[in-house]
Amino acid sequence: MSLFITFEGVEGSGKTTQIERLKRYLTRRGIPCKVTREPGGSSIGEKIRKILLNPDHRGMVPLSELLLYEAARAQHVKELVGPLLQRGAVVLCDRFTDASLAYQGYGRQLDRGLIRRLNRLASQRVRPDITFLLDCPSDLGLKRALRRNRLLKNEKEGRFEREKIQFHHRVRRGYLAIAKENPRRVKVIDTRVGEEKVFEKIRKIVDELL
Ligand code: TMP
Repeated sequence: MSLFITFEGVEGSGKTTQIERLKRYLTRRGIPCKVTREPGGSSIGEKIRKILLNPDHRGMVPLSELLLYEAARAQHVKELVGPLLQRGAVVLCDRFTDASLAYQGYGRQLDRGLIRRLNRLASQRVRPDITFLLDCPSDLGLKRALRRNRLLKNEKEGRFEREKIQFHHRVRRGYLAIAKENPRRVKVIDTRVGEEKVFEKIRKIVDELL
């Protein structure tokens, strides 16, 4: 049985940690899984990621940004996610179509109908079975993301982290609206309860699915 699980949330919501934990948990249970991310997940996608996240690219207009995310997605789905799911694999993906709607739709305020159409085109209608929306107040997440970047990657800040706080508030509101529209698929988890409790919630839901 294939299973496509995606993780979403504002900057610094702790997706990467939870994905790693879930991977370890599934592996221990004898369920192999593939971890991937957007933008990225393929060699072309990773190159597109570099263009998208480069803080020097201040002049990138929202439409180019959207099309690059969708281009990376088209490549990722065709090359990796689609074939894996066809083979019955479990795929854990750090961000997917909801991110374009939240960031480019709500954050950048591009036409959401257009984004939905491009999402359908690029994902070839591959849809997550379940999406964990790791929710936290945008200012808290942003603080965590900036600290992490400085500590781990020795980077200052990325193109998105540099955005005004209002942008991040809109992204969060967007994610919560998406969750409201898709209550069966999108599970909202408040990350303020701490890493351990967040994982317990994720584990329970995944156990029920398996
Ligand atoms: P990450 O840092 O969580 O890997 O995500 C990279 C950045 O790209 C993050 O700031 C969110 C943003 N993003 C979009 O704006 N639109 C998208 O469609 C995706 C997948 C990510």
